[in-house]
Formats: sequence, C-alpha cells, structure tokens
Amino acid sequence: MFKTVEWKSTGVVMIDQTLLPEREVYRTYRDYRGVAGAIKEMVVRGAPAIGVAAAMGIAIGAVKVKAKDMKGFKREFDKIAKLLASTRPTAVNLFWAIERMRRVAAENEGLGVERLKKRLVAEAKEIHRDDIEINRRIGRHGGTLLKKNSTVLTHCNAGALATAGYGTALGVIRGAIEAGKKVRVFADETRPFLQGARLTAWELKKDNIDVTLITDNMAGYIMKKGLIDAVVVGADRIAANGDVANKIGTYTVALLAREHGIPFYVAAPLSTIDLKIKHGDNIPIEERDSAEVTHLKGRRIAPKGIAVRNPAFDVTPNRLVTGIITEKGVVRRPYNKGLKALFSK
Ligand code: MRU
Repeated sequence: MFKTVEWKSTGVVMIDQTLLPEREVYRTYRDYRGVAGAIKEMVVRGAPAIGVAAAMGIAIGAVKVKAKDMKGFKREFDKIAKLLASTRPTAVNLFWAIERMRRVAAENEGLGVERLKKRLVAEAKEIHRDDIEINRRIGRHGGTLLKKNSTVLTHCNAGALATAGYGTALGVIRGAIEAGKKVRVFADETRPFLQGARLTAWELKKDNIDVTLITDNMAGYIMKKGLIDAVVVGADRIAANGDVANKIGTYTVALLAREHGIPFYVAAPLSTIDLKIKHGDNIPIEERDSAEVTHLKGRRIAPKGIAVRNPAFDVTPNRLVTGIITEKGVVRRPYNKGLKALFSK
C-alpha cells in the first residue's frame, strides 16, 4: 500500500500526486520550505493530508533551528509556521494543524529547545496516526448509511491520498465494504486538476473497488438513469451553519442530487469544521493559476490571452446537505446545533 505522507529519519516523504497515475514517485523533503512548496504545488493535497504535511513541515523546521536559546527558537518557529500557513487558504485543516503545533510549542517551553524539538516531532507523528484512526471511524459511521448494494458518486479525491490513509468519503465506501456491503463507485474526473480521474480512480482500482470514471458533465445523465444511490464527498472547510466548501463542482453535484432525490453526504473530520466561520460566504476560496484551465498536461487547449477564472473550491449550502459524517457520528439539520454539540461531547 502507498503512503501519502510519512515521517522518516531522512525527512518528510510524500508520494508525488502531480505525477499519478503514470508514475509512483516518492519525494523526500529535508526542510520546511520544501514541505511548504509541496503543499502549494499540490504534490500533497486534500484537506487532512495538507494538515498532516504542515505539522511535519513545522516539526522538520523546528528540528533544524540553530538557535540554542528559547527566544531565538521561538522567533524561527514563528517564521516556519507563517510560511506553512501561507501555502493554501481554503482547507482549514492546515490552520488547525499549525495551531495545534503552536499550542504544543507554547505549552512546552519549559522543556528547553532540544527536548521541545522532540516533543514537536512526536506531535506531528500523532496527528498522522490520529488521522487514520479518525477516518476509520468516519468509515464505520458512514458505512451504515449505504444500502447493502449501493452505487455511490464521488467528486474529487477524498481518499487515502487526501489524508494520512483510508480517506473520508472513500473511507465511507471502504467502511461499507468492510461491513460486507457491495459498493460500486462513479468517480467524477474533476476538472481542471483531475483529482477524480488521476487519483480516485487510481486508488480505488488499486484496492479492487469497482469504479467507473465519468467526466463532470456526465453526472446529471447518470443520475437521471437511476444509477446513483448516494453521493459522498469530502470537505475542505465546513462553516458553523453546515455550509460546505469542497472541490469546485461539488455544488453542481449537490444541486443535481437534490433534483434527482439522491442523498448528498459530506464526510469530514472535526478538524475540517470551522465554528468561527458562521456561513459559507465567509470561507476564503483559493483561485489557482489560469494555466490549469487553458492547458492539459502542458498542452494549450484554449486561445492565447483568453480570460479565465479558476476557483479551486465552491460552497454547497447546508440545505442541500443530507448529513455530515464525522468521527463522532452523523450530523443532520439543524447543523448549527449539531455541529456545535460535536465539540462539547
Ligand atoms: O485542491 P485539493 O485537491 O486539495 O482539494 C481536495 C478536496 O477538495 C477534497 O475533497 C477535500 O480536501 C477533502 S479530502 C479528504
């Protein structure tokens, strides 16, 4: 089985997701700048995986700090955390992980610089371990929502590649299969970055899960044919009211699901829920390079100089969301109350 991101004695090791499915190349990052670059360039992507990578980036940055006194260490630590926070704006897991590392640093100053470095490495490894366990729980809760014999449509990649392992939306599919259900998957290709075609199709096929690839504009046709029982997607940030930011095109899929009377589920860990953001309009949406739209594998497919928009995410309003599957169970409307309660349990 492949490893999305891993802490090794040589550095932070990641499978390069920009090269999949053609080539399985592992990259080793020995300093935090390299890790920040990998997040920005989407060598590693997917909200929980970005969080894990950022925590490891901070840890490797901290290990390499030369300062011997705490004041100097803190100054460097702050620089490291700031750079990692500037990589991608939408997935809140990034900021959640950085905040967790900051808290550990602040609470353990008394250890002194060298022992604090070890403590930070241990914390990053724990975030990694926890994420896999959390996804398995999401999988168990979500798996119960699918029928014995089910066809699920998913968008983008919310699988093992988007997390420390197992996945959120794909974790639900894996959970249902492990519970003895028969699940088939339709994967949207997910233009423009093609996470569905390149990554979801690759990892499901590797796992021998029945997967059929469609282009994004085929989803309506497939739903109208009665081929889809449920939609399950991941999330990059969920607002306090249950509005969901996820990969561009998710909103369209949610509208189609509503039109066809198909349940639309979002699978995400608590670290994706941002109670500080009241509703989806306030979620920052990343705009990426226009070349992702005008080019396919380096080849131009649109006229030079054409105006382009490339928002990487959209927001699905809570009214279109049937349920939010978390490691603590499934939350349904009213989301304000249900999501808040998750944090007090
Ligand atoms: O731009 P990406 O590939 O990082 O976007 C990924 C998604 O939108 C995923 O659906 C989301 O992060 C959930 S991953 C478990």
